[in-house]
Amino acid sequence: MSIPSTKAIAIETRRRRPEPASTNRIDNWSGYRPFVVKQRVRESETISSFYLARDDGQPLPSFKPGQHVTFRLELPGRAEPLLRSYTLSDKPDPLHYRVTVKREPGTNRTPPGLGSNYFHAQVGAGTRLWMSAPSGGFHLDPEELSPVALISAGVGVTPMISMLDAIAVGGTRRPVWFIHGARNGREHAMGALVRRLVREHDNVHAHICYSRPTDSDRRGRHYDTVGHVDGALLQRLLPHARFDFYLCGPGRFIEGLRDALLDWGVDAQRIRSEHFGAASAPDDIPTPDASVTESVGKRPVQVHFKRSGVVVRWEPGTASLLDLAEKRGLVPDSACRVGICQICTRRLVQGEVAYAPTPASMPEPGFILPCCTRPISDVVVDL
Ligand SMILES: Cc1cc2nc3c(=O)[nH]c(=O)nc-3n(C[C@H](O)[C@H](O)[C@H](O)COP(=O)(O)OP(=O)(O)OC[C@H]3O[C@@H](n4cnc5c(N)ncnc54)[C@H](O)[C@@H]3O)c2cc1C
Ligand code: FES
Repeated sequence: MSIPSTKAIAIETRRRRPEPASTNRIDNWSGYRPFVVKQRVRESETISSFYLARDDGQPLPSFKPGQHVTFRLELPGRAEPLLRSYTLSDKPDPLHYRVTVKREPGTNRTPPGLGSNYFHAQVGAGTRLWMSAPSGGFHLDPEELSPVALISAGVGVTPMISMLDAIAVGGTRRPVWFIHGARNGREHAMGALVRRLVREHDNVHAHICYSRPTDSDRRGRHYDTVGHVDGALLQRLLPHARFDFYLCGPGRFIEGLRDALLDWGVDAQRIRSEHFGAASAPDDIPTPDASVTESVGKRPVQVHFKRSGVVVRWEPGTASLLDLAEKRGLVPDSACRVGICQICTRRLVQGEVAYAPTPASMPEPGFILPCCTRPISDVVVDL
């Protein structure tokens, strides 16, 4: 996710981008509705899948492979619900949705992740969860027939599995390369499914890299090469550069591959990417560059959070309007914090803002994503 230059920000903002939000929401329910977990499946030591059906047993609407849902989790001992987004990791099926969650264990410096540990510790068959409808602009177009490369690292595999399976069952001859990096077999999820799809469909190819295989990992069976997925590997594996590329993984993985693909001559329009946001990869989020930080949000402007009745001065150095609200004790909805999930969307009643980083898709005119906006005039926000 690159940070636009200051000039680009100003132009984008004043132009008030005409295109509507491209969340592609399937409009059969808005907000959150109850689902029941039907089954839980262990995919690796750190990753588990959860199969969900509607609590009234009704068939589920379809979605576009690559889209995600958001859960409103009621955690014991926590007053406010926790919102967390997870990609639908299966092909569309009217009987269930599947999400696949990596447990974020924390380190000696950071606490364990709240939402993922709740899933791993508390959620199993019979658990009732509140879930949003599928949405998100990072998805496959199943009608397309051009060659496609699905490239992921770690739990970034989830949208790629959905896309791969959808292409395989679609019965087209669309050439597809699935290229994935994991540390080793202990953290590698859904390897058996991918191997089966390769065996059953001769248009499906796969290559798995382990960066640190264990003694029980077998080359040729569990993985193909030792190392990381990088530009050199892609050029070695793919017959040419005329693929549609889908990338998902940590921010640095995506940035590195994007640069390598552009150097190889791939048209930027054919590279689509998603990373799972600040919450899932704190080290990988690009920090705003100095010129952006210096020029935007330095003027002494006033921010009015209208619904809460809070009026504050914008504090230079604050990352975003969401950050400012939280510093003032407000608890607005948020999840990814980098402009992917759209959960934080609020009406901009008055004033102008600039975006950094640029969100994956812009909200409807008149609305902003406070997680990645800073004021460039006095603003009134419906928050
Ligand atoms: C569109 C989208 C799709 C996604 N799809 C998937 C998916 O398919 N599978 C999946 O597993 N995830 C997915 N995610 C990520 C997921 O939404 C969560 O962000 C992830 O599970 C971590 O949430 P958490 O509540 O467990 O961690 P959090 O509590 O949010 O913590 C996140 C990380 O920050 C660290 N941390 C916590 N507090 C601090 C602190 N004070 N200082 C420093 N570090 C701290 C934690 O150790 C943890 O590693 C997706 C995200 C988005 C936006
Ligand atoms: S919190 Fe996800 S878009 Fe703002």
